[in-house]
This record gives sequence, structure tokens and C-alpha cells, in this order.
Amino acid sequence: MSTILLTGATGYIGSHTWVELAEAGFNVIGLDNFSNSNPKVLDRIAKITHSSPIFYGCDVRNTLALDKIFKEHTIDGVVHFAALKAVGESVSEPLSYYDNNLHGLVNLLEVMKKNNSKSCVFSSSACVYGDPESVPIHEQAKVQPTNPYGQTKLMSEQILHDLERSDPEWRIAYLRYFNPSGAHPSGLIGEDPKGTPNNLSPLLTRVAVGVMDKLMVYGNDWPTPDGTGVRDYIHVVDLARGHVKAIEYLLQGKPSVTLNLGTGRGYSVLEMIKAYERASDKSIPYEIVARRPGDIATCYADTKLAEKTLGWKTEFNLAQMCADGWHWQKMNPHGFD
Ligand code: NAD
Ligand code: WQD
Repeated sequence: MSTILLTGATGYIGSHTWVELAEAGFNVIGLDNFSNSNPKVLDRIAKITHSSPIFYGCDVRNTLALDKIFKEHTIDGVVHFAALKAVGESVSEPLSYYDNNLHGLVNLLEVMKKNNSKSCVFSSSACVYGDPESVPIHEQAKVQPTNPYGQTKLMSEQILHDLERSDPEWRIAYLRYFNPSGAHPSGLIGEDPKGTPNNLSPLLTRVAVGVMDKLMVYGNDWPTPDGTGVRDYIHVVDLARGHVKAIEYLLQGKPSVTLNLGTGRGYSVLEMIKAYERASDKSIPYEIVARRPGDIATCYADTKLAEKTLGWKTEFNLAQMCADGWHWQKMNPHGFD
């Protein structure tokens, strides 16, 4: 049984990936500093996986704590989620983003190298593409992030490429996610960011459950069929399963690879509102307001390479994604608290 270290393990995507890895038979070791997650996630993971999670409450920038984990366990591979991810905050606090996301990565890689553990799945993002020249976006498209958060993802990719060039034993899967949404069908884990969410999906479920009055729709004058922004929303369980496939791929000794993880299909903000209304059987009040600075019109993935390389394909449709997101929010109106 291979042992995988998950950083950012109690976060939104990390917790779902933990469950999918455990179900696929991996021994999972989680690490998180809870800067954007809740320790109660661990009880929920225990409930879903019927096992006691092995967990370390520490920061990826803490070399000694990381080294201790590698000394206590033989780590076959790492899935590195731990990062700050709020685009707006990265503009106002760029240094904390460069410190957390880049210093964290370099520290992790140093400890991995020291302990001869050289397989890593890295959480990159569709935001490395910035405003795409065409859609669907394929992996060779120009990379041009438009904010410090996106820069940290592109710089992280560059750091990893340089590392690979220095030592061919490194195996890296650069996974560029589109827009994760939904929750585990059990309703036990889901997205629960600290503070007010910035992303559309958690805002939609909060309006539906009544903890927020209405959704602000950022512009209906975009060059899209209904004028609102179009994105590629991927069910978080499909995304998590993509990570299982990616770590299996690396542990088979296959070469490093950069892959989009999305569905290949775009939905507008208004289509998302309608889909969440159907899933929740609630009306979702909204108001059209000005465009959000830095937003783009349309973004969806070319998924062919991921499908071919990993033998992976998304399985959940929009209705299931919204139903699961709603189920989670209804069972946990105030998140894990
Ligand atoms: P999240 O905030 O829910 O999870 C990240 C987790 O990392 C949190 O639990 C946080 O407490 C932890 N963390 C942050 N800094 C840490 C540090 N220095 N040491 C230890 N733990 C730390 O975010 P998520 O949505 O699950 O995203 C996971 C990864 O995927 C991130 O790298 C993010 O940039 C990337 N990503 C997310 C999205 C998205 O829309 N959610 C899209 C593309 C890429
Ligand atoms: C989706 C659509 C908004 C909120 C961001 C990051 C990206 C990645 C995913 C991490 C857009 C509209 C949103 C609201 C709205 N994260 N919207 N009202 O902007 O595609 O991507 O999250 O890597 O890097 O940039 O996602 O969910 O914020 O927005 O109308 O209150 O919903 O304008 O069209 P985005 P999002």
C-alpha cells in the first residue's frame, strides 16, 4: 500500500481527495495549518472512510515539522494543496501570497529531496492562462496570469520545472484546475472557507440557504450568450479522482505532465443560478452589478490530454454537482461550525 502525504488536507479539495485516495486503497497522511479550514473536517473524514485519520497540524513552511513526518513515515508521493487562494486578497497582500505559496513549496521540495521522495502532484490553476486567446483552453496555450495569486501558481510551476531539469528522478503532475464546485454526496464535507467566500458556488448555496440575502452578478454585458461570465465548473469529487489517477500515474514511473482538470463545458452565471434553484427548490435573488475587476468573459478546458493520459473523465453532471453542493449546505448551514 503506497503512502501519500496530502498538504492542505483539511481544505475543500484536500478533504475530498483524502476520501478518494483512501477509497482507492492509499494510506493517507494529512497536514494542514487550518488557516482556511476547520479541524472538525477530520471527524467527518473518519466517518466517511471508517478509519482514524493520520494528521499533523503544521505549516508547510516549518522544515523541522515536515522532516519529522518524512522520518516517521515512508512517503511514496505528495499531493501539494496547501496554499492561499483568494485572488482579491493576493492583490492587497501579495507578500503573504508569495511567502505562503512559494516559500511553502520550496520548503516542501527541500524536505522531499532530503528524504528521497520525488513524486509530487501540484495544485495549479486555470488562472495561469489569464484571459485566454481562445477556448477551449489547451495546455500549450499562452500563460499570462493577471494577479499575484496566479503568479504564484506559474512561478511554482517554473520552480518545479527547474527542479526536474536538475534531477530526472523527479516526477511532477502539474494539474490546472478549472472551477471546483459541489460537495461529497454524503453531505459530510464540502466547501467552508473562512470569512465571506469569493467564488460563485459557495455564494450561491449561501443565498439559497438564507445566510446571505442575494447574489451580486458581476456584469451582464460580457460577450457571452446571456451576457454573464462563462466558466467550467467541475464536481469536486471528479477533481479528487483526477488526483488519484495522477498519483497512480506518477508512481508507475511515467513522465511528468501538465494537465487541465475540467469538464470541457462552460456554464454562465445565470445558468448556474437556475441550476442551483432547481437543486434547492429555492429562489436565488440576484442583482446585476458592474463587472468585477480582473474577470474574463469565458473560460473552459480542453480536456483531451487529461482523459488520454490518466484514463480519467468527469462523471458528474451539472444537476448532480448542484444537488451535492446544496445537500452539503442544507446539512451544514453554517459550515463545520
Ligand atoms: P482551501 O483553502 O480550502 O484549502 C487549502 C488548505 O491549505 C487549507 O485547509 C489551508 O488551511 C491550508 N494551508 C494554507 N497554507 C498553508 C500552509 N502554509 N501550511 C499548511 N497548510 C496550509 O483551498 P482549496 O480550494 O481546497 O484549494 C486547494 C489548492 O487548489 C490550492 O493550492 C489552490 O490554490 C488550488 N486551486 C483551487 C481552486 C479553487 O477554485 N478552489 C482552483 C484552482 C486551484
Ligand atoms: C465565477 C463566475 C464571476 C462571484 C477564481 C480564480 C481562479 C480559480 C477559481 C483558484 C465569474 C461570477 C462570482 C459573485 C458573480 N481559483 N461571479 N458573482 O473568477 O472563474 O476563478 O476561482 O485557483 O483562479 O480566479 O471563479 O467563482 O470567482 O467566478 O457574478 O459573487 O461567477 O464574475 O464569471 P473565477 P469565481
